[in-house]
Amino acid sequence: MTSYTIGVLGGDGIGPEVTEEALKALAAVAEIEGFTYDLVDYPYSGDYYLKTKELVSDDVIDEWRTLDAVLLGAIGHPDVEPGLVERSVILGLRFGLDLYINLRPIKLFADHLCPLKNKKPADIDFVVVRENTEGMYSQIGGHLKKNTPDEVAIVNGVYTWKGCERACRYGFELAHEGKTMGRPGRVTLVDKHNAVRPHDIWERAYHHVAEDYPEIERDHAYVDACCMWMIKNPEWFDVIVTTNLFGDIITDLGAMLQGGMGIAASGNIHPGQTSMFEPIHGSAPKYTGKNIACPLGAIASASMMLDFLGENAAAKRIDTAMETLLKSGKVKSADARSGIATDAMGDMVVELIRGA
Ligand code: IPM
Ligand code: MG
Repeated sequence: MTSYTIGVLGGDGIGPEVTEEALKALAAVAEIEGFTYDLVDYPYSGDYYLKTKELVSDDVIDEWRTLDAVLLGAIGHPDVEPGLVERSVILGLRFGLDLYINLRPIKLFADHLCPLKNKKPADIDFVVVRENTEGMYSQIGGHLKKNTPDEVAIVNGVYTWKGCERACRYGFELAHEGKTMGRPGRVTLVDKHNAVRPHDIWERAYHHVAEDYPEIERDHAYVDACCMWMIKNPEWFDVIVTTNLFGDIITDLGAMLQGGMGIAASGNIHPGQTSMFEPIHGSAPKYTGKNIACPLGAIASASMMLDFLGENAAAKRIDTAMETLLKSGKVKSADARSGIATDAMGDMVVELIRGA
């Protein structure tokens, strides 16, 4: 029987609550599909930092490398300096394990979840391939004369040929497989190479990779226009490849197209190596402990993890259960206002997994 070692970082706020539900779904599909796993818990979070002053060390990152995958809930605490723990844990994983792809599917499961008029599930079904280790997230930069009237703040957007090339290649491979759209797809490069001239490295890397995929339609949108098209004609998109920061921004917009922050999932991936899966929402402190956060993003992230591990049937079971639940109309919205408790929603998914 195949067995996996999975690291679990529940994190802060609603993170542990939604992760609990993802683990319930994981347990149910493992039993049905016949694989086993060990869970290794990690305490790193804002909460843990306040108690211990401990952040993620290089040794911990080395230990993570030995896992098959990591499941993360959410990181961020209102009493900790903004970004400190997020950079340590989330960027620690992304940069430390060189998880160069942030794969974010934008899929509408049921009509009533979409805030757009006249858009159906067939219209909203694409993936964003967000470069995940470079760009404005490079952490290269700093301040001069901080907290004075002469302050200067500099942040460097870093784009390497290797980073652009491998992100584009991943996007073209997805389109080639036609996995998400059931046919060879179109790959849209999203950048801002008109105003930010060095972004043309993306354009060149994109067309270089595209040469290897003559059957794939090439497409380009500046990020501002991309936001417009995502609302006006989301059906246009199959695979979007974009920079780290633009990918961060457009996938929150994408989450809304799907029905809410509570449903959007992501995989931080280095093909063939330990990868990390997390809902794209944050720790939502105001909902903590209220048992109202939507666990579907966390559950969908567990499904992405299983797909990555090669447990495709198990992943499919979770997706089908989620789709059935959402199509039933019982879930009004994919957020904290769904009217269904976090654990109750997890139970509903598990019940459908067992029935499927
Ligand atoms: C995301 C988040 C993170 C990001 C934050 C928490 C650092 O917004 O995963 O989209 O900016 O990447
Ligand atoms: Mg984000």
